[in-house]
Amino acid sequence: MRSVFQPGLYAGKTVFVTGGSGGINLRIAEAFGELGAKVAINGRKVDKLQAAVDGLRAKGIRAEGYAADVRDYAAVDGAIAAAVEALGPLDVLVCGAAGNFPAPVAAMSSNGFKAVMDIDVLGTFNACRASFERLTKPGGVILAISAPQAQVAYPMQAHVCAAKAGVDMLVKTLAMEWGPSGVRVLSIWPGPIDETEGMQRLAGDPEVRKRVAAALPLQRFGTKDEVAQLALFLASPAASYVTGSIHGVDGGMALCGGGLISF
Ligand code: COA
Repeated sequence: MRSVFQPGLYAGKTVFVTGGSGGINLRIAEAFGELGAKVAINGRKVDKLQAAVDGLRAKGIRAEGYAADVRDYAAVDGAIAAAVEALGPLDVLVCGAAGNFPAPVAAMSSNGFKAVMDIDVLGTFNACRASFERLTKPGGVILAISAPQAQVAYPMQAHVCAAKAGVDMLVKTLAMEWGPSGVRVLSIWPGPIDETEGMQRLAGDPEVRKRVAAALPLQRFGTKDEVAQLALFLASPAASYVTGSIHGVDGGMALCGGGLISF
């Protein structure tokens, strides 16, 4: 799709994306890079991360990769410090790292619940906390990737519902605390997006996929690019008075109630 954004809009800017070696987050990193940004991506798996960095570089994007588990504060802090050292002060942080698997609470271990809470909530906190001193002020932007599960309850998704609601409240609180420094903090919730690991896990069955698409107000799954376009807008000067808000790009999924995906 041809970008509606001005070429070079993010020239000279540094963008750091956690969970950036695949899926929606990689497309977001790439979209910033296509508009001139220097891009740092983070992931847990070194091989996958390197392949993603190679792919970005092959498209002419200045890209670096930093392996770290977002649950480990020292590792995240080190990754962001190294990115800033290599690419310059941070302009945009995207907190994209997230965990998910479908399971009913009655069959979920405490550790399974904790894994998702830690990746999503603690991981977002860690990346935000490690970034704050290194963000451009005024003008820095933090975008957290949330989910419709923060808006409505979904069976088999108690961990994700709790975690993403936590992420959204963290975003609102940080918007209040960091607004006076000129840092905007926002949340994006993608709905069912094609060609993602998350949708493969939750709606991998073609019949489930068809039923979900038919139930959505927009009658189709979204694309990774449609999520990236929202990120580009929210981080841009066009959204300079927007902070503390939670933005859906979900084809209307959050209006449909939590029975939409049933297993
Ligand atoms: N069903 C039930 N429990 C599961 C599970 C599943 N499908 N997958 C993992 N768990 C549980 C594990 O059993 C373990 O609990 P236990 O120690 O009581 O057995 C706990 O989660 C932690 O699992 P672990 O294997 O140590 O992995 P992890 O800490 O790396 O995190 C995931 C596991 C599944 C949360 C993580 O790898 C993940 O989410 N990966 C997918 C990423 C993804 O799809 N992102 C898109 C999000 S929309």
